[in-house]
Amino acid sequence: MIKPDGLFGNYTDEIKKVILESGFSILEEMMVQLDENYVTIFYAEHSKKSFFPRLVKYMTSGPVFVMVLEKVNAIADWRALIGPTDARKAKVTHPNSIRALCGLDSEKNCVHGSDSPQSAAREISFFFEEISSGLERDRLDARRC
Ligand code: TYD
Ligand code: MG
Repeated sequence: MIKPDGLFGNYTDEIKKVILESGFSILEEMMVQLDENYVTIFYAEHSKKSFFPRLVKYMTSGPVFVMVLEKVNAIADWRALIGPTDARKAKVTHPNSIRALCGLDSEKNCVHGSDSPQSAAREISFFFEEISSGLERDRLDARRC
């Protein structure tokens, strides 16, 4: 996922280029504006953390660009490519990582990556089944109006 600061900073094309050059295939992609409810579901594991209210504000500050990436060892390789959570650290320890390129700190870190096959399955179905079917319903409703 490219987070709102990645989109605001116009990093989408550059990040997609890095993705393809690193041997990933992009199977699905979608731009979506999250609301508080969606962020709370997506980041459920962090919902009790002190940083959560700020995270919700940030994640709803603009659209996100979600992709399904495919590659052998995709999860570990994508996590390695994006670098550590804190983009300030990434700039020092992983200067070639995506978070070093376009992230700012441990909150505004530009990109997300699923951390296990289970979370990848959950996150893919969250965006490309639940949210997509909701958007499709909205489109149908809009057409009906
Ligand atoms: P986490 O799952 O720890 O990191 P990652 O994105 O590398 O898997 O945290 C999820 C997101 O929560 C993180 O990308 C940004 C936000 N966050 C903060 O805003 N402040 C923090 O101190 C931490 C640890 C995370
Ligand atoms: Mg995480």
